[in-house]
Amino acid sequence: MSDETVEALPDSRPDLKGPEEEVRRLTTRILELRDEYYGRNTSTVSDAEYDAMVRRLEQLEEEHPELRQQDSPTQTVGGRAETTLFAPVQHAERMLSLDNVFSREELEAWAARVERDAAPRRVRYLTELKIDGLAISLRYERGRLVSAATRGDGVVGEDVTQNVLTMGSIPRQLSGRGHPALVEIRGEIFFPVAAFDELNARQAAAGERVFANPRNAASGSLRQKEEGKSPEKLALVHDRLRRLRMLVHGIGAWPLGEIEATTPITAQSEVYALLAEWGLPTSSHYRVFDSLDGVLDYIRQYGEHRGGVEHQIDGVVVKVDDLDLHVELGATSRAPRWAIAYKYPPEEVRTKLENIVVSIGRTGRATPFAVMTPAQVAGSTVSQATLHNQDVVKAKGVLIGDTVVLRKAGDVIPEVLGPVVELRDGSEREFVMPENCPECGTRLAPAKEGDADLRCPNTRSCPAQLRGRVEHIASRGALDIEALGEVGAVALTQPYTPVPPPLETEAGLFDLTLEELLPIRVTVSDPATGAPRRENGELKLLAPFQKKNGQPSKTATELLANLEKAKTQPLWRILVALSIRHVGPVAARALATHFGSIGAMRAATREELAAVEGVGPIIADALLDWFAVDWHQEILERWAAAGVQLATPGHPGPGSAAGEGGGILAGITVVPTGALEGFTREGAVEAILAAGGKAASSVSKKTDFVAAGPGAGSKLTKAEQLGIPVLDADGFRRLLAEGPDAVR
Ligand code: IVH
Repeated sequence: MSDETVEALPDSRPDLKGPEEEVRRLTTRILELRDEYYGRNTSTVSDAEYDAMVRRLEQLEEEHPELRQQDSPTQTVGGRAETTLFAPVQHAERMLSLDNVFSREELEAWAARVERDAAPRRVRYLTELKIDGLAISLRYERGRLVSAATRGDGVVGEDVTQNVLTMGSIPRQLSGRGHPALVEIRGEIFFPVAAFDELNARQAAAGERVFANPRNAASGSLRQKEEGKSPEKLALVHDRLRRLRMLVHGIGAWPLGEIEATTPITAQSEVYALLAEWGLPTSSHYRVFDSLDGVLDYIRQYGEHRGGVEHQIDGVVVKVDDLDLHVELGATSRAPRWAIAYKYPPEEVRTKLENIVVSIGRTGRATPFAVMTPAQVAGSTVSQATLHNQDVVKAKGVLIGDTVVLRKAGDVIPEVLGPVVELRDGSEREFVMPENCPECGTRLAPAKEGDADLRCPNTRSCPAQLRGRVEHIASRGALDIEALGEVGAVALTQPYTPVPPPLETEAGLFDLTLEELLPIRVTVSDPATGAPRRENGELKLLAPFQKKNGQPSKTATELLANLEKAKTQPLWRILVALSIRHVGPVAARALATHFGSIGAMRAATREELAAVEGVGPIIADALLDWFAVDWHQEILERWAAAGVQLATPGHPGPGSAAGEGGGILAGITVVPTGALEGFTREGAVEAILAAGGKAASSVSKKTDFVAAGPGAGSKLTKAEQLGIPVLDADGFRRLLAEGPDAVR
């Protein structure tokens, strides 16, 4: 965790006001954590805490099915933040997740259920390591790699084919013969542990970012674009990509019959043997056992030698080997019943608690966090950890200056467990929660009476909250404004400048001009104290947009260009950017698809909002609350006036979007290509889907239209060869608005 804002953990004790209240609180908190994770790719509770909350919610919903809401997080798979950098790829079969167990007893209970359902057949268990990497799906058609995609939300991922090909270790062409027309190979890409320290040394020497752990190195490397990079940077990127490795752990879409015609396949272990024959990288660590005893032994052995494997391990995956049983046992909406992940307990180390500093998050929550002497734990260097709120600090009993026990599991948020009391020497001091917001001085207060968390109520103008919201707008899960990072957000909102900061709220973001950006100066704050840094008694200042050689800085011109482009992002991204509670990408997509415009959402009743698949009463209330605030209206008005697209072009209105009864492009396939003016690549795809059409990435006889902008290449040629109508950006807009007959 960096010095970015952190959010706090709610009181997760069972609520005595009854299950209804507990379901509501858990749902709210889990959705909040998902928003945080999706939006900023960070999390402030440990995986174990998050899992425990989801499991408690599942248990309550099982006991009280009437309390299960449409928008319950138990009904959806959480995905990684997506970016507009890469084109969306629809998986032929959904990429599911795995359910977790944390003890021998829980594993035995899972196996007992499986064996009961399989009886009288005996169950064999394929047991393998859980690789702490990045899930990937390789699509091979007749043995040839056609695409590689990240998981995304499980349905749509990001196209990272080019980078996967650069890795060099993944075959473009499968070896052997008789390959199926289509097969999706699922696996994990990771950065080998042995090469990780050297990688960071190289990165630091080149003045590039260092990675927190091998997992981040893998995801950071794979999700890099080549365009616009200097030859030196490109060499670094390629070098990183070539060091990545992949191990396969399953299959997505798989016309089993087709393969079986040549090779009888009845077990997961036979799948691995076949994949290895095809030249795909399979793990040498998997074993098949006739009973759970062997599995438990495997778990114990690898638990003792976690460091001895080429990749980081975040547990063991136990799978039923027999493929017929996979079909019979089936899957829930998020995970198969025939597999389970056993998570190892987290690792612990000791370090010094140097300070406790309070930060204000995007939602105003005041969160104390621990600043520690950097310590190595579970594969990464940790120097900060959230302490959630003052009650948690008290409950943990830590004093500033204490030696503390720090715990971390794999790629999981670190946690301070408590002090080592024997090591105290009397110099330690107690933490006192400030009464006022450290950023704007407003008196902190709980949102509701009895809440442990304190908030800064100055939502509109508190610089920390505004800065957090601006950073969120720029994040990959929202509008993906690359030139507006942490420093940029400070620059636009921080009150210290010779001239006032250009943004009073995010309403003015799309009205920024070069003249406003050039004079900005920013103080640099010390993460350990939060105070501005000084050098030789002088405030240390940055001038991110200053003129260089008489020219405005590249950052300034890029920022303005990025903002211009962001105006035509798909509606769901605009919605995410508004920082409406609980409206992360999943809910935003559902709302955007159903309503097609922010205006239609605003006009909808609570019941209409809550009735949308994937949305429920909690999100509906959050929307109504958001729309009711006058300065939020100002954001919408000013964004609209600046040209931000608050509606999906071609959307036929509430309730009539794709999958909900046709749409103007029902049955029509469109291939967008080149730079279509007024659309990002993803925006064009979204607009086609929103109008009920199909967006394809290659031109065939089945294509109805090709929408081509400048830069279109082979797809345009092919369309011309096949005599398929080609539309420019205006024609495309007309197609979306008026349907195929208007442009044929
Ligand atoms: S099997 C249907 N096997 O862990 C899902 N997954 O936490 C089948 N993972 O999404 C997944 N190592 O990306 C499987 N040996 C392994 C794995 C593994 C890592 C990842 C995978 C999955 C995630 C769930």
